[in-house]
Amino acid sequence: MQRQISAERTAALLGTAPERSPAYLGIADGLRLLIADGRIPLGTRLPSERELTLALAVSRTTVTRAYTQLKELGYLSSRQGSGSVAQLPTTAAVGDLLLNPEPAAPGRIDLTCAAPVGPTGVAAAYEKALAELPCHLPANGYYPSGLPALREAVARRYAERGLPTDPEQILITSGALSALAIVVRAFVDTGDRVLMESPTYPNAIATLRSAKARIAGADIDQSGWATSSLIDSVRQVRPAAAYLMPDFHNPTGQLMDDDQRAALATVLRRGKVLTIVDESMVEMAIDEVEHPLPFAAHAPDTISLGSASKAFWGGLRIGWVRVPSSRMAPLVAARLSLDLGAPVLEQLALVHLMADREQVLGVRLRQLAEARAALVSGLASELPSWRFRMPAGGLSLWCELPRPVSSSLAVAAEKRGVRLAAGPLFAPEGGLERFLRMPFTQSPAALSDAVSRLAAAWDEGVQQTPGRRSKQQDPALVT
Ligand SMILES: Cc1ncc(COP(=O)(O)O)c(C=O)c1O
Repeated sequence: MQRQISAERTAALLGTAPERSPAYLGIADGLRLLIADGRIPLGTRLPSERELTLALAVSRTTVTRAYTQLKELGYLSSRQGSGSVAQLPTTAAVGDLLLNPEPAAPGRIDLTCAAPVGPTGVAAAYEKALAELPCHLPANGYYPSGLPALREAVARRYAERGLPTDPEQILITSGALSALAIVVRAFVDTGDRVLMESPTYPNAIATLRSAKARIAGADIDQSGWATSSLIDSVRQVRPAAAYLMPDFHNPTGQLMDDDQRAALATVLRRGKVLTIVDESMVEMAIDEVEHPLPFAAHAPDTISLGSASKAFWGGLRIGWVRVPSSRMAPLVAARLSLDLGAPVLEQLALVHLMADREQVLGVRLRQLAEARAALVSGLASELPSWRFRMPAGGLSLWCELPRPVSSSLAVAAEKRGVRLAAGPLFAPEGGLERFLRMPFTQSPAALSDAVSRLAAAWDEGVQQTPGRRSKQQDPALVT
């Protein structure tokens, strides 16, 4: 069934929208921010022009012009019989945010994707896997918990990181996102409150939303976790579950230290919160840092998610879950209602890549260091008003813009051939228009080019828009 919002509710939400002259711009701006912040959820049918005209006590032309503007900006679609439906401009759609299956068009730079290209060594690992495949053909090829050799390799890596692990605690999945979907299916009920960091990984928000969890966000800022905000939220919200990324958090790249982990673990344990820790980025340590213990070493009931996508290659489509042994049976049961296992060839290839981890990853991390340096110096010279905290790892900078114009900048950048993921996409409960994720997974040359294009879009579109009453109020004018 299609979601709808009444004219009265829309008018009430717009009550706090900025006043603009002419009036239609104020209404368009207000609606755009409500959609971008998720307060009018995507896919919601807005009131008809006639209904909104009555509710707002304005002229019909005013509402018609506001809707027309929103359609032009990509925030509303109108289909025969469905009315005007809230959407985000294609630059900022949640669905395929992380991996755009289409190859980037020539001359265009896709910064919506924080995933590196396949490193040297992937093809060789596949060749070795192919040579081993005949040994597996006499069996039926279904491994719902994962190929034993890969479960062992993953368990070994946890042990190396300071967390003794039995291979029986590992479930191999088709990626970390699939791992989250399985965990949520097994352990999160409709209506459960789930605490997430704000910002957080957009597709995890989508997974939890589709499970009908009630999401609560806890701020983490440029200086990393004010763990007090998470701790306070655990106490106040009393969530049933929490989804956290203490290891090179996506998008901020921050690393939670051992003291913070210990303090948070204590509160989560006391609150009996099912703790899901996404460690997809854990191997992305660009700088030499002393890596804290895995979160599960502080909170043994933790469910940890892992991925081969960042350390090795997204095309493998392999991830995993590490659970306390007592949770394995319900996890496998949940998995079997979704799929029957991950592909054998890819699992074999990953065993080889993990055996060569230091070498494959070493090259990758050096390339990322160069790309990060190019992005940092480009931003410092061309967009000095943007602020960010240098992360020791991860795949992106989380930039704070001087004004809340992230979505508008994404629209302006698209016209210059740069695709951006605007801040609100990372917001579990709306907001974050003042932030932008800038991945450094492209080459240094592509990143320098992207920054120059963004600087031009910023200067012409956002900085110099005539007739601004308040820079905060009219981000749509960049278009
Ligand atoms: C935090 C986080 N979790 C999960 C994923 C998805 O990983 P996978 O490709 O293993 O499904 C990503 C990918 O960007 C991510 O950043």
